[in-house]
Amino acid sequence: MACFAARTAGVAVLRKSFFPTRSAFTTRGLVTRATSYTLNTGAKIPALGFGTFQDPDSQEETVSLALRKGIRLIDTARVYNVEKQVGKGIKKSGIPREDIFVGTKLWCNDYHPEDVERAVDDSLRDLDTHYVDLLLMHYPCTFKRGADRFPRDAEGRMIRGETTFMDTWKAMGEVIKTGKVKAIGVSNFSKGEIQTLLEKTGTVPAVHQMEVHPYLQQKEFNKWLKEQGIHVVQFSPLGNMNDFYRQTGWSKEIAHMKRVIDQPTMKEIAEKYGKSTAQVVLAWGINSGRSVIPKSVVDWQVKQNLESDFELQPADMAQISILDAKARFNDPSLDYEWRLYSDLEGIDGTVKGRTH
Ligand SMILES: NC(=O)c1ccc[n+]([C@@H]2O[C@H](COP(=O)([O-])OP(=O)(O)OC[C@H]3O[C@@H](n4cnc5c(N)ncnc54)[C@H](OP(=O)(O)O)[C@@H]3O)[C@@H](O)[C@H]2O)c1
Repeated sequence: MACFAARTAGVAVLRKSFFPTRSAFTTRGLVTRATSYTLNTGAKIPALGFGTFQDPDSQEETVSLALRKGIRLIDTARVYNVEKQVGKGIKKSGIPREDIFVGTKLWCNDYHPEDVERAVDDSLRDLDTHYVDLLLMHYPCTFKRGADRFPRDAEGRMIRGETTFMDTWKAMGEVIKTGKVKAIGVSNFSKGEIQTLLEKTGTVPAVHQMEVHPYLQQKEFNKWLKEQGIHVVQFSPLGNMNDFYRQTGWSKEIAHMKRVIDQPTMKEIAEKYGKSTAQVVLAWGINSGRSVIPKSVVDWQVKQNLESDFELQPADMAQISILDAKARFNDPSLDYEWRLYSDLEGIDGTVKGRTH
Protein backbone atom coordinates (compact mmCIF):
# COMPACT_ATOMS: atom_id res chain seq x y z
CA MET A 1 0.00 0.00 0.00
CA ALA A 2 2.75 2.46 0.80
CA CYS A 3 4.25 3.84 -2.35
CA PHE A 4 8.00 4.15 -2.65
CA ALA A 5 8.62 7.47 -4.37
CA ALA A 6 12.02 8.88 -5.18
CA ARG A 7 13.79 10.67 -2.32
CA THR A 8 13.76 13.86 -4.37
CA ALA A 9 9.97 13.80 -4.39
CA GLY A 10 10.28 15.65 -1.10
CA VAL A 11 8.23 15.69 2.04
CA ALA A 12 6.33 18.83 1.05
CA VAL A 13 4.45 17.07 -1.72
CA LEU A 14 3.98 13.89 0.23
CA ARG A 15 2.56 15.59 3.30
CA LYS A 16 -0.51 16.67 1.37
CA SER A 17 -2.06 13.28 1.89
CA PHE A 18 -2.81 12.28 5.42
CA PHE A 19 -3.48 9.10 7.39
CA PRO A 20 -4.85 6.53 6.79
CA THR A 21 -3.13 6.90 3.44
CA ARG A 22 0.43 7.15 4.60
CA SER A 23 2.48 8.59 1.81
CA ALA A 24 6.05 7.58 1.78
CA PHE A 25 9.47 7.88 0.34
CA THR A 26 12.67 6.08 1.04
CA THR A 27 15.67 7.11 3.07
CA ARG A 28 18.35 4.45 3.04
CA GLY A 29 15.66 1.86 2.48
CA LEU A 30 13.42 3.28 5.21
CA VAL A 31 9.95 4.56 4.50
CA THR A 32 9.33 8.10 5.75
CA ARG A 33 5.65 8.56 6.43
CA ALA A 34 3.31 11.54 6.84
CA THR A 35 1.13 10.34 9.67
CA SER A 36 -1.81 12.34 10.96
CA TYR A 37 -4.50 11.65 13.55
CA THR A 38 -8.16 12.50 13.77
CA LEU A 39 -9.11 14.63 16.77
CA ASN A 40 -12.40 14.17 18.64
CA THR A 41 -13.64 17.21 16.66
CA GLY A 42 -13.13 15.35 13.39
CA ALA A 43 -10.23 17.59 12.36
CA LYS A 44 -6.86 16.13 11.40
CA ILE A 45 -3.65 16.92 13.25
CA PRO A 46 -0.24 15.97 11.86
CA ALA A 47 2.02 13.70 13.90
CA LEU A 48 5.09 15.77 13.23
CA GLY A 49 5.06 19.41 14.21
CA PHE A 50 7.26 22.35 15.02
CA GLY A 51 7.78 24.14 18.36
CA THR A 52 8.47 27.88 18.63
CA PHE A 53 9.46 28.52 22.25
CA GLN A 54 12.56 30.81 22.47
CA ASP A 55 14.85 32.39 19.85
CA PRO A 56 12.29 34.98 18.67
CA ASP A 57 14.71 36.53 16.17
CA SER A 58 15.00 33.24 14.28
CA GLN A 59 11.38 32.14 14.32
CA GLU A 60 10.19 33.91 11.16
CA GLU A 61 12.87 32.24 9.06
CA THR A 62 12.70 28.80 10.66
CA VAL A 63 8.90 28.62 10.65
CA SER A 64 9.00 29.52 6.97
CA LEU A 65 11.72 26.96 6.29
CA ALA A 66 9.93 24.20 8.21
CA LEU A 67 6.69 24.85 6.31
CA ARG A 68 8.43 24.93 2.93
CA LYS A 69 10.10 21.62 3.79
CA GLY A 70 6.79 20.00 4.67
CA ILE A 71 5.83 20.69 8.30
CA ARG A 72 2.09 21.36 8.68
CA LEU A 73 1.72 21.68 12.45
CA ILE A 74 2.98 24.82 14.21
CA ASP A 75 2.84 25.13 18.00
CA THR A 76 3.14 28.52 19.65
CA ALA A 77 1.86 30.39 22.72
CA ARG A 78 1.01 33.92 23.78
CA VAL A 79 3.66 33.83 26.48
CA TYR A 80 6.46 32.88 24.05
CA ASN A 81 6.30 36.39 22.55
CA VAL A 82 6.81 35.00 19.06
CA GLU A 83 3.32 35.06 17.57
CA LYS A 84 4.20 37.97 15.26
CA GLN A 85 7.28 36.18 13.97
CA VAL A 86 5.31 32.96 13.53
CA GLY A 87 2.64 34.83 11.57
CA LYS A 88 5.26 36.35 9.30
CA GLY A 89 6.93 32.96 8.84
CA ILE A 90 3.61 31.45 7.76
CA LYS A 91 3.06 34.22 5.22
CA LYS A 92 6.64 34.03 3.97
CA SER A 93 6.40 30.27 3.39
CA GLY A 94 3.70 30.74 0.75
CA ILE A 95 1.84 27.70 2.09
CA PRO A 96 -1.93 28.32 2.15
CA ARG A 97 -3.19 28.96 5.69
CA GLU A 98 -5.85 26.26 5.39
CA ASP A 99 -3.16 23.64 4.80
CA ILE A 100 -1.50 24.41 8.15
CA PHE A 101 -2.58 23.34 11.64
CA VAL A 102 -1.78 26.29 13.92
CA GLY A 103 -2.11 26.04 17.69
CA THR A 104 -1.55 28.69 20.33
CA LYS A 105 -2.02 28.91 24.10
CA LEU A 106 -3.81 31.24 26.42
CA TRP A 107 -1.61 32.56 29.23
CA CYS A 108 -2.61 32.45 32.92
CA ASN A 109 -3.19 36.23 33.37
CA ASP A 110 -5.90 36.07 30.69
CA TYR A 111 -7.95 33.30 32.27
CA HIS A 112 -10.80 35.47 33.53
CA PRO A 113 -13.84 34.55 31.38
CA GLU A 114 -14.26 38.19 30.35
CA ASP A 115 -10.67 38.28 29.04
CA VAL A 116 -10.56 35.08 27.02
CA GLU A 117 -12.01 36.24 23.69
CA ARG A 118 -9.97 39.46 23.77
CA ALA A 119 -6.83 37.40 24.43
CA VAL A 120 -7.67 35.20 21.44
CA ASP A 121 -8.12 38.35 19.33
CA ASP A 122 -4.65 39.52 20.41
CA SER A 123 -3.13 36.21 19.31
CA LEU A 124 -5.00 36.24 15.99
CA ARG A 125 -3.87 39.79 15.30
CA ASP A 126 -0.22 38.91 15.94
CA LEU A 127 -0.43 35.62 14.07
CA ASP A 128 -2.13 37.52 11.23
CA THR A 129 -4.81 34.89 10.82
CA HIS A 130 -8.59 34.74 11.23
CA TYR A 131 -8.56 31.55 13.30
CA VAL A 132 -6.41 29.05 15.10
CA ASP A 133 -6.91 25.32 14.73
CA LEU A 134 -6.29 24.77 18.43
CA LEU A 135 -6.39 26.93 21.54
CA LEU A 136 -4.83 25.42 24.67
CA MET A 137 -5.03 26.51 28.27
CA HIS A 138 -1.29 26.68 28.96
CA TYR A 139 -1.41 25.62 32.65
CA PRO A 140 -4.28 24.94 35.06
CA CYS A 141 -3.18 27.73 37.42
CA THR A 142 -4.77 31.15 37.18
CA PHE A 143 -2.82 34.35 37.79
CA LYS A 144 -4.25 37.75 38.73
CA ARG A 145 -5.91 39.28 35.68
CA GLY A 146 -4.24 42.28 34.08
CA ALA A 147 -1.41 43.16 31.75
CA ASP A 148 1.30 41.66 33.95
CA ARG A 149 1.93 38.10 32.83
CA PHE A 150 3.71 37.20 36.05
CA PRO A 151 1.97 39.25 38.76
CA ARG A 152 3.86 38.99 42.03
CA ASP A 153 3.36 40.31 45.54
CA ALA A 154 5.94 42.30 47.51
CA GLU A 155 7.71 39.07 48.43
CA GLY A 156 7.94 37.96 44.82
CA ARG A 157 5.23 35.31 45.09
CA MET A 158 2.85 34.81 42.20
CA ILE A 159 -0.62 36.27 42.83
CA ARG A 160 -3.46 33.91 41.97
CA GLY A 161 -6.49 34.88 39.94
CA GLU A 162 -9.98 34.85 41.39
CA THR A 163 -11.54 32.48 38.86
CA THR A 164 -10.78 28.82 38.19
CA PHE A 165 -9.65 26.86 35.14
CA MET A 166 -13.25 25.64 34.91
CA ASP A 167 -14.45 29.18 34.27
CA THR A 168 -11.74 29.63 31.65
CA TRP A 169 -12.62 26.33 29.99
CA LYS A 170 -16.25 27.33 29.61
CA ALA A 171 -15.22 30.70 28.11
CA MET A 172 -12.91 28.92 25.66
CA GLY A 173 -15.86 26.77 24.58
CA GLU A 174 -17.80 29.95 23.84
CA VAL A 175 -15.03 31.24 21.56
CA ILE A 176 -15.40 28.14 19.36
CA LYS A 177 -18.85 29.47 18.41
CA THR A 178 -17.24 32.59 16.91
CA GLY A 179 -15.15 30.54 14.48
CA LYS A 180 -11.95 32.12 15.80
CA VAL A 181 -10.94 28.82 17.36
CA LYS A 182 -11.59 25.40 15.80
CA ALA A 183 -10.77 23.21 18.80
CA ILE A 184 -9.83 23.63 22.45
CA GLY A 185 -7.53 21.67 24.70
CA VAL A 186 -5.34 21.85 27.76
CA SER A 187 -1.68 21.65 28.66
CA ASN A 188 0.15 20.64 31.85
CA PHE A 189 -3.01 19.33 33.53
CA SER A 190 -3.09 16.49 36.06
CA LYS A 191 -5.44 13.56 35.58
CA GLY A 192 -7.65 14.89 38.39
CA GLU A 193 -7.87 18.31 36.78
CA ILE A 194 -8.96 16.80 33.46
CA GLN A 195 -11.48 14.59 35.27
CA THR A 196 -12.93 17.73 36.85
CA LEU A 197 -13.33 19.32 33.42
CA LEU A 198 -15.05 16.23 32.08
CA GLU A 199 -17.37 15.85 35.05
CA LYS A 200 -18.31 19.49 35.45
CA THR A 201 -18.56 20.62 31.82
CA GLY A 202 -18.82 17.49 29.69
CA THR A 203 -16.56 19.16 27.12
CA VAL A 204 -13.73 16.79 26.30
CA PRO A 205 -10.43 18.48 25.42
CA ALA A 206 -9.34 17.69 21.86
CA VAL A 207 -5.71 17.69 22.93
CA HIS A 208 -3.57 17.46 26.03
CA GLN A 209 -0.14 18.93 25.36
CA MET A 210 2.24 17.59 27.97
CA GLU A 211 5.83 16.63 28.62
CA VAL A 212 6.49 13.17 27.19
CA HIS A 213 9.80 11.66 26.07
CA PRO A 214 11.66 8.40 26.72
CA TYR A 215 12.64 9.62 30.23
CA LEU A 216 9.02 10.52 31.10
CA GLN A 217 6.73 8.09 29.32
CA GLN A 218 3.64 8.44 31.55
CA LYS A 219 2.32 5.11 30.29
CA GLU A 220 -0.80 4.87 32.47
CA PHE A 221 -1.77 8.51 31.95
CA ASN A 222 -1.28 8.25 28.19
CA LYS A 223 -3.45 5.13 28.13
CA TRP A 224 -6.18 6.89 30.11
CA LEU A 225 -6.10 9.96 27.86
CA LYS A 226 -6.47 7.75 24.80
CA GLU A 227 -9.51 6.08 26.39
CA GLN A 228 -11.06 9.54 26.86
CA GLY A 229 -10.45 10.41 23.18
CA ILE A 230 -7.90 13.08 24.07
CA HIS A 231 -4.98 13.29 21.64
CA VAL A 232 -1.55 13.81 23.20
CA VAL A 233 0.97 16.26 21.79
CA GLN A 234 4.39 15.74 23.34
CA PHE A 235 6.27 18.87 24.30
CA SER A 236 10.02 18.76 24.91
CA PRO A 237 9.90 15.51 22.89
CA LEU A 238 13.71 15.28 22.96
CA GLY A 239 13.74 15.26 26.78
CA ASN A 240 16.46 17.32 28.43
CA MET A 241 17.84 18.84 25.21
CA ASN A 242 16.61 22.32 25.98
CA ASP A 243 19.20 24.27 28.01
CA PHE A 244 16.32 26.14 29.60
CA TYR A 245 15.85 23.17 31.92
CA ARG A 246 19.47 23.33 33.03
CA GLN A 247 19.38 27.08 33.58
CA THR A 248 16.11 27.40 35.53
CA GLY A 249 15.34 26.02 38.95
CA TRP A 250 12.52 23.82 37.66
CA SER A 251 14.56 20.68 37.31
CA LYS A 252 18.13 21.78 37.82
CA GLU A 253 19.61 18.54 39.12
CA ILE A 254 17.91 15.97 36.91
CA ALA A 255 18.24 18.10 33.78
CA HIS A 256 21.96 17.37 33.93
CA MET A 257 21.48 13.62 33.53
CA LYS A 258 22.80 12.10 30.30
CA ARG A 259 20.82 13.53 27.40
CA VAL A 260 18.22 11.14 25.96
CA ILE A 261 19.92 11.34 22.57
CA ASP A 262 23.23 10.19 24.11
CA GLN A 263 21.80 7.01 25.60
CA PRO A 264 23.67 3.94 24.28
CA THR A 265 20.33 2.21 23.63
CA MET A 266 19.30 5.09 21.41
CA LYS A 267 22.59 5.03 19.59
CA GLU A 268 22.29 1.30 18.88
CA ILE A 269 18.77 1.67 17.54
CA ALA A 270 19.69 4.74 15.48
CA GLU A 271 22.57 2.91 13.86
CA LYS A 272 20.31 0.04 12.88
CA TYR A 273 17.94 2.36 11.04
CA GLY A 274 20.60 4.68 9.61
CA LYS A 275 19.00 7.55 11.53
CA SER A 276 20.12 10.03 14.19
CA THR A 277 19.20 9.41 17.80
CA ALA A 278 17.02 12.54 17.76
CA GLN A 279 15.05 11.06 14.86
CA VAL A 280 14.56 7.81 16.78
CA VAL A 281 13.33 9.70 19.86
CA LEU A 282 10.75 11.53 17.73
CA ALA A 283 9.76 8.35 15.89
CA TRP A 284 9.14 6.69 19.27
CA GLY A 285 6.52 9.35 20.05
CA ILE A 286 4.82 8.98 16.68
CA ASN A 287 4.88 5.18 16.84
CA SER A 288 3.13 5.55 20.22
CA GLY A 289 0.23 7.37 18.53
CA ARG A 290 1.14 10.88 19.61
CA SER A 291 2.22 14.11 17.91
CA VAL A 292 5.66 15.59 18.57
CA ILE A 293 6.66 19.25 18.32
CA PRO A 294 10.47 19.49 18.38
CA LYS A 295 11.88 23.00 18.33
CA SER A 296 14.94 23.94 16.38
CA VAL A 297 16.35 27.05 14.77
CA VAL A 298 19.22 25.19 13.13
CA ASP A 299 18.56 24.37 9.46
CA TRP A 300 20.10 20.90 9.41
CA GLN A 301 18.23 19.94 12.59
CA VAL A 302 14.93 21.22 11.22
CA LYS A 303 15.47 19.14 8.08
CA GLN A 304 16.59 16.10 10.07
CA ASN A 305 13.54 16.27 12.34
CA LEU A 306 11.34 16.25 9.25
CA GLU A 307 12.48 12.73 8.48
CA SER A 308 11.47 11.33 11.85
CA ASP A 309 8.20 9.66 10.92
CA PHE A 310 9.17 6.06 10.24
CA GLU A 311 8.21 2.68 11.63
CA LEU A 312 10.11 1.36 14.64
CA GLN A 313 10.03 -2.38 15.23
CA PRO A 314 8.24 -3.58 18.40
CA ALA A 315 11.54 -4.87 19.82
CA ASP A 316 13.05 -1.40 19.53
CA MET A 317 9.96 0.22 21.06
CA ALA A 318 10.36 -2.25 23.96
CA GLN A 319 14.01 -1.25 24.40
CA ILE A 320 13.08 2.43 24.58
CA SER A 321 10.33 1.59 27.06
CA ILE A 322 13.04 0.61 29.56
CA LEU A 323 14.47 4.14 29.58
CA ASP A 324 11.44 5.48 31.48
CA ALA A 325 13.28 7.24 34.35
CA LYS A 326 10.14 9.20 35.31
CA ALA A 327 12.23 12.34 34.99
CA ARG A 328 10.12 15.46 34.60
CA PHE A 329 12.01 18.56 33.53
CA ASN A 330 9.18 21.07 33.18
CA ASP A 331 7.81 21.70 36.68
CA PRO A 332 7.28 25.35 37.66
CA SER A 333 4.96 24.37 40.57
CA LEU A 334 6.93 26.21 43.22
CA ASP A 335 7.24 29.37 41.17
CA TYR A 336 3.60 29.38 40.06
CA GLU A 337 2.32 28.61 43.56
CA TRP A 338 0.31 25.65 42.25
CA ARG A 339 1.06 21.96 42.77
CA LEU A 340 1.11 20.88 39.12
CA TYR A 341 0.97 17.22 38.02
CA SER A 342 -0.10 16.26 41.56
CA ASP A 343 -1.28 12.75 40.62
CA LEU A 344 1.32 12.13 37.90
CA GLU A 345 4.83 10.71 37.71
CA GLY A 346 8.10 12.56 38.09
CA ILE A 347 7.28 15.34 40.55
CA ASP A 348 9.89 14.41 43.17
CA GLY A 349 12.91 16.63 43.47
CA THR A 350 11.31 19.84 42.25
CA VAL A 351 13.36 22.76 43.46
CA LYS A 352 12.20 26.30 43.99
CA GLY A 353 13.43 28.71 41.38
CA ARG A 354 12.15 31.95 39.95
CA THR A 355 11.88 31.60 36.20
CA HIS A 356 10.28 34.80 34.98
N1 LIG B 1 2.95 23.43 26.84
C1 LIG B 1 4.06 23.73 27.46
O1 LIG B 1 4.06 24.10 28.64
C2 LIG B 1 5.37 23.60 26.73
C3 LIG B 1 6.56 23.51 27.46
C4 LIG B 1 7.75 23.39 26.75
C5 LIG B 1 7.73 23.34 25.37
N2 LIG B 1 6.56 23.44 24.67
C6 LIG B 1 6.52 23.39 23.19
O2 LIG B 1 7.29 22.28 22.76
C7 LIG B 1 8.32 22.71 21.89
C8 LIG B 1 9.56 21.83 22.02
O3 LIG B 1 10.00 21.77 23.35
P1 LIG B 1 11.47 22.16 23.82
O4 LIG B 1 11.99 23.25 22.99
O5 LIG B 1 11.41 22.33 25.28
O6 LIG B 1 12.29 20.83 23.61
P2 LIG B 1 12.81 19.94 22.37
O7 LIG B 1 12.14 20.31 21.13
O8 LIG B 1 12.68 18.55 22.87
O9 LIG B 1 14.33 20.31 22.34
C9 LIG B 1 14.79 21.51 21.79
C10 LIG B 1 16.31 21.48 21.81
O10 LIG B 1 16.79 20.40 21.02
C11 LIG B 1 17.65 20.87 20.01
N3 LIG B 1 17.39 20.06 18.80
C12 LIG B 1 16.29 20.07 18.00
N4 LIG B 1 16.38 19.16 17.03
C13 LIG B 1 17.59 18.55 17.20
C14 LIG B 1 18.27 17.54 16.48
N5 LIG B 1 17.75 16.94 15.42
N6 LIG B 1 19.52 17.16 16.91
C15 LIG B 1 20.07 17.75 18.01
N7 LIG B 1 19.45 18.71 18.73
C16 LIG B 1 18.23 19.12 18.32
C17 LIG B 1 17.32 22.34 19.83
O11 LIG B 1 18.45 23.03 19.38
P3 LIG B 1 18.42 24.54 18.82
O12 LIG B 1 17.69 25.36 19.83
O13 LIG B 1 19.86 24.91 18.73
O14 LIG B 1 17.76 24.55 17.51
C18 LIG B 1 16.93 22.74 21.26
O15 LIG B 1 18.07 23.01 22.03
C19 LIG B 1 8.54 24.18 22.27
O16 LIG B 1 9.20 24.91 21.28
C20 LIG B 1 7.12 24.62 22.50
O17 LIG B 1 6.47 24.90 21.28
C21 LIG B 1 5.38 23.55 25.34
